[in-house]
Amino acid sequence: MLIAEAKRQAGERSQSLAKRPGQGRGSALNSVFMPRKAHQQGLGSFLPGQSCELFQAGITFLGPHFEGRCKDLELVRKSDADLLGAVVEGHPSHSAIILEAMIHPLPDELLRLPHRTDVPFPKLTTLGVGGICRWLFEPATEPEAQAFVRACARENLQYRVLGGGSNLVVLGDIETPVLRLRFPAELKRDGLKLTAPASFGHIRMAQGAADHGLGGMEYASGIPGTTGGALRMNAGAYGRELVDILDTFRFLTPQGELVEKRPEPGEFKYRWSFLTGGHVGLAFTVKLAEGDRDSIRAQVLENMGKRGSSQPLSKRNAGCIFKNPTGTSAGRLIDLAGLKGFRVGDAEVSSEHANFLINHGHATAAEFAELMEVVKAKVREMHGIELEPEVEIWS
Ligand code: EPU
Repeated sequence: MLIAEAKRQAGERSQSLAKRPGQGRGSALNSVFMPRKAHQQGLGSFLPGQSCELFQAGITFLGPHFEGRCKDLELVRKSDADLLGAVVEGHPSHSAIILEAMIHPLPDELLRLPHRTDVPFPKLTTLGVGGICRWLFEPATEPEAQAFVRACARENLQYRVLGGGSNLVVLGDIETPVLRLRFPAELKRDGLKLTAPASFGHIRMAQGAADHGLGGMEYASGIPGTTGGALRMNAGAYGRELVDILDTFRFLTPQGELVEKRPEPGEFKYRWSFLTGGHVGLAFTVKLAEGDRDSIRAQVLENMGKRGSSQPLSKRNAGCIFKNPTGTSAGRLIDLAGLKGFRVGDAEVSSEHANFLINHGHATAAEFAELMEVVKAKVREMHGIELEPEVEIWS
C-alpha cells in the first residue's frame, strides 16, 4: 500500500508539474530511486517505521522499472544500505529526469500494446485476494505477445504470466508488468488432434473434445483455469496429466523467440514444466482417440460431479494448495493434523477437502499467508513432512 500511495502521489505531482514545466524544472522534487531488492521485499519491510515519515515529508519512491530511464541519476543510484542517504533535494536536472520517468514509466513500444492499469487482483483470481496489478498487458494475437516479450527482454524488464488466476495466491501489489493472453477462443480439430490457444478455458477444451467424440481428455474436465496454465503446470487429475496426451506445443522463449515442438523427457513432471521464468505458452495440440461421444460426455460429467462432491467449489478457492508428497495425499495429511475448519480471519481450511483453503468473502492476503504457514508447521510437527505449495505465489 505504501508503494501504491507513493506512485499515486508521484502521478499527481508529475501531472501538475507537467502542466507547469517551468516551475517543475526548478522545484525541489524530492525523490529516491528504489533499488530492485527493496522493491521486491516490499518497502515496509525494507524501511520499517521510517517510510511513513518519508512519505509525509513528500519524498517519492520510484519502482525498479524506472531504473533504465534514470541512468544519469548517479546521486540516487546507491546501494540498498545507502538508500536513506540518497534523497535528491533541489537538484533541478535530476528532478526533470525523474519527472520524465514518472510520465513515461514503461517503454513506448510496451505502452502501445493493449493494456490496463491498476486492476485489483481479486478480480483476476479465483481466490479473490491480493493487491493491485499495476500493469496488465492483454495481447490479442501471437505477434502482440511476441512484441511484449521482446520489448521486455530488450529493456531487461521482468514480467509475470497470468492464466485464469485459478492456481494463484497473490500476496500484495504487483508492480512488474503482467501478461494475460486474450487470443480468439478457437478450438481446431485435425483428425484425432485438437488445438487450443493458451487463453482457452481448460474445462471448455475437455468439453470440446467430448463434443467431437474424442476421448482421452476426460480427466481434465474438472480442472479450472486456462489451457496455458494447464501447460505451464502440466495439470492433471485421476492419475492422468497433460503430457500424456500432448502432441505439440508453441511457446515464446524469454527472448521472444517463437518455438513449436514435441514434448521431450524431462520437460514435464508432476505439476511442473520448464515453461517458467519468462517463457510464455501460446497454444498446444493434444492427440486423442476416436470414441463414443455419449460415453465420453458421460465421463466428463461424472468427473465434474466427483470434483463437486469432494471439493468446496461453491467458495472462492485456488484449487489444491499443496503438492501431494510422494506416495501420499496432502489433503489427507492436513485432515489427519486436525486442521479442517481451522480459520485465520476469513481464510479457512475447507471442511470438505483439507487441501483447499477457502475465502469466505473478505479474507486478506496476509490471512492466507498465515494460514498456509500454520498448515505447513502443523503437518511438519505431526507427520515430519514438508509440504510444498502447488499454487503459484506472487508477492
Ligand atoms: N482425503 C482425506 N481428507 C481430505 C481430503 C482427501 O482424507 O480432506 C483423502 C481422500 O479420502 C483420498 C485421498 O486423500 O483417500 C486423496 O484425495 P483426493 O481423491 O481428493 O485426491 P487428492 O490427492 O487430494 C488430487 C489432485 C487434485 C485433483 C484430485 C482428483 C493434487 C495436489 N491434487 O487431489 O487436483 O482434483 O486428485 O484427481 O495433485 C489441483 O491440482 O488443484 C487439484 C485439486
